[in-house]
Amino acid sequence: MTQVPRTGIISALRQELDAVLADLPDEQRQRAGGRDFWVGHWHGHEVVAVLSRVGKVAAATTATTLIERFGVDRILFTGVAGGLAEGARVGDVVVARSFLQHDMDGSPLFPRFEVPLYGKARFATDTALSDALAAAAGAVLADAETALGADAVAEFNLRAPRLHQGLIVSGDRFIATSADGATLRGAMPDALAVEMEGAAVAQVCDDYGLPFAALRTLSDRADDDASVDFMRFIERVASRYSAAILDRHFRLLPKT
Ligand code: ADE
Repeated sequence: MTQVPRTGIISALRQELDAVLADLPDEQRQRAGGRDFWVGHWHGHEVVAVLSRVGKVAAATTATTLIERFGVDRILFTGVAGGLAEGARVGDVVVARSFLQHDMDGSPLFPRFEVPLYGKARFATDTALSDALAAAAGAVLADAETALGADAVAEFNLRAPRLHQGLIVSGDRFIATSADGATLRGAMPDALAVEMEGAAVAQVCDDYGLPFAALRTLSDRADDDASVDFMRFIERVASRYSAAILDRHFRLLPKT
């Protein structure tokens, strides 16, 4: 008998998880590792949704628990990030193709950014899963007003949001000054965005050989204005994008 695949969905913030849970008709709570794991279905697919909280350690333990205790077969991460690349604007969405820890530095023993004893700095996301997520994101962004409502589109001036795909960098620091954003841009010129969890989950999924994909709505530009209206943006824009994109993803995902 073939087993139905189970998808773990990690969110870093409560508002994002709430938007996901609102779309699950039947979730049941299970406690493990100091967290609530919500086991349910999304368009007939088995899912386990969980709040990781913020930072790489919290994300890594959450991903490990999802794999070891809940037996998930793949992991999706949904959240926000600060835009680093020139065209990466607030309200755009990034689907990660690889992750790097920008605060990893084992030099001079290992090259800067390389995760010691892995022999690499960059951890790729799963191509097929990322393709599927990108397709869902593209379709939702093409009609942002349906996903967000006209009021949110007007409030945050989100005309013609774009989808980007490529490198996201992670570290245990919220980047809230233009100087820090410029430093990251200088060190990693192809980085599209910065956040605080993705690279940790990518490393755990690499350890277990599990497909991983991640979706980030840009809430700021990783500059001096980065903390302005952060929570309001998450509630009114990022959470709604996440829910709409994942809803489309699970609606289209084959049940095998
Ligand atoms: N998540 C969203 N914006 C961020 C920023 N500027 N730095 C780190 N993580 C973020």
